[in-house]
Amino acid sequence: MANVITSVNELDFGLKDLESMPAPGKVLLVKPTFFSVEYVINPHMEGHVGNVDKLQAQNEWEHLKSAYEELGLYVHVEEGRRGFPDMVFCANQSLPNITKEGTKQVVMSVMNADERKGEVPFIQKVYEDSSYDIVHLDGSRFHSFEGMGDAIWHFKRRLLWGGYGFRTSKDVYEIISETFDTPVIALELTNPKFYHLDTCFCVLDEHSALIYPEAFTDEGLELIHSIFTNVIEASKYEAEKLFACNATCPDGKNVFIQQGCVDVNHKLKDAGFKVHEFSTYEFLKSGGSVFCMKMLLW
Ligand code: ARG
Repeated sequence: MANVITSVNELDFGLKDLESMPAPGKVLLVKPTFFSVEYVINPHMEGHVGNVDKLQAQNEWEHLKSAYEELGLYVHVEEGRRGFPDMVFCANQSLPNITKEGTKQVVMSVMNADERKGEVPFIQKVYEDSSYDIVHLDGSRFHSFEGMGDAIWHFKRRLLWGGYGFRTSKDVYEIISETFDTPVIALELTNPKFYHLDTCFCVLDEHSALIYPEAFTDEGLELIHSIFTNVIEASKYEAEKLFACNATCPDGKNVFIQQGCVDVNHKLKDAGFKVHEFSTYEFLKSGGSVFCMKMLLW
């Protein structure tokens, strides 16, 4: 049965009532060989068409790749494809799951922008080769769904956080909740600069999240605060210009984040996290940073 929660009075569980889930041990990266800004589908891309330094982008990506390896994650590298300059943002084409029984499943995205629709079959192939059950959503029931850009797993708990409003339709979460037998807390996004949930919301560990509060409604903020006891807030500058909330914390301890987020980094360190800074300036031109340049999977 679907369980999609949109306000605190619908919350009928606490964290300890939720089943546990293993943390993903693999990371998928797509080589930035064909990465560039060729069209404008989010406000950050404006003024950057044709403006990517390819060599610099390659260097930035290589640093991130090495860091995942050093953290002990298994890194799967997929080739980029000509004609798909945004494919490097491989958080967007899918949403993987591991069931209670250990079966690996993946829901494939229905991209909002026509320019990105052709990326999905290439990513699907990766899952086919890793023995995932592939799920295609009934596209007549919603408009679009952009994978882990908008649907984010809680840390080690069977709970999904689902952003909607710009790239993903609210309706899709009924289907996803049913398909994965998982409650979904749906959060409306209100600011086009924060067009994916992963631009304004980062799960750090079971009790901690990093957010940009101005990207949410009051209902959304209440929901976030009712589950997380430790909510770290990013300033407008660090959230909007440096994509502070597009950080990732794969193990609940080490946070990978765009460099220069001075205020957020202080708060993260005070809360006991280890901060690793990366330059993703070339990817910021396209409206993405650390979180959306990878997919965590089992
Ligand atoms: N240019 C890409 C787009 O607009 C960037 C995607 C970044 N991904 C993310 N999850 N924030 O689709």
